[in-house]
Amino acid sequence: MTLSDTEAQARTLGGYDDASRLRQVHDRDWVLDQVTGEPGVLVDLGSGIGQLLEAALRRHPSLRLAVGLERSEHRLAEAGERLRPHGGRVVLHQADLTAPAPLPYRADVITMTSVLHWLYPVEHRVLAWAREHLAPGGTFLLTTYHPARDRHGFGGEDDIVRDALDALGIPSESVPGLFEDRDVLPIATRTRAADELRTLLGEFFTVEATFEREAVVTVEGAAQYEHFHAATFGDYYASVLEPAVRAEFFRTVGRVAFERQEHSGRVSSMPVRLWKLTART
Ligand SMILES: C[S@@+](CC[C@H](N)C(=O)[O-])C[C@H]1O[C@@H](n2cnc3c(N)ncnc32)[C@H](O)[C@@H]1O
Repeated sequence: MTLSDTEAQARTLGGYDDASRLRQVHDRDWVLDQVTGEPGVLVDLGSGIGQLLEAALRRHPSLRLAVGLERSEHRLAEAGERLRPHGGRVVLHQADLTAPAPLPYRADVITMTSVLHWLYPVEHRVLAWAREHLAPGGTFLLTTYHPARDRHGFGGEDDIVRDALDALGIPSESVPGLFEDRDVLPIATRTRAADELRTLLGEFFTVEATFEREAVVTVEGAAQYEHFHAATFGDYYASVLEPAVRAEFFRTVGRVAFERQEHSGRVSSMPVRLWKLTART
């Protein structure tokens, strides 16, 4: 079977450089603005295509080492290209953050943006790793998304997907059951509520400060959202469907999202929290 362009994109999580301009990239400078002094080592967890590492290297000439840990080999390859000009100041590791292995670094700064929900329900493992890999006095800067969720644990992107599935003939009421059958957790469940997260983080860190902003997504058209969805969520949601209807699914997600914007002025809006953490001793 020949894959559509969007299906191929979803397989490799491709096109993130463009797609992340709609939401995730705004975390980058917001987070790096919290880095003070002259850090020598920074580790970015779930470093994607290396955008945060690149900005950190530019902003902090003091950095002798910028380390990225990432699972996707396509993303690591793209990050390698992007960061090549920085030579030996950069190290990229392929890593699964649900079971992170010890590494010989102690970081002045650890960052993790738009990743924690993917590690549910074993986030404590990466939190323990981060605490152990912080240098004395080091800071862990973490961003988490908090969409409102309904009684099925659906919210944010889950709602858009549910509307798309409904448009494809799967009634909204049966979508939670379909997710359960296919072992797909709603992302709004994975993101945990801010209070619950504070308790979890408190086991490992002292919360020095929190900041909040609203992430509002708007697009120029349905196709732009279709690509944003594929680059950000890959096949995560599409996997509930048979391969033959996935191309249509991605197109419908784009159409439904754009209809939402025409109706309410934006596709989605959700609070993002930035946590400034130091290791609990
Ligand atoms: C939404 S992207 C965020 C990328 C980047 N941090 C940013 O802010 O643009 C989530 C990233 O986490 C990575 N990721 C998801 N689960 C992972 C895991 N178990 N181990 C390592 N990386 C993971 C994905 O491959 C992806 O690059």
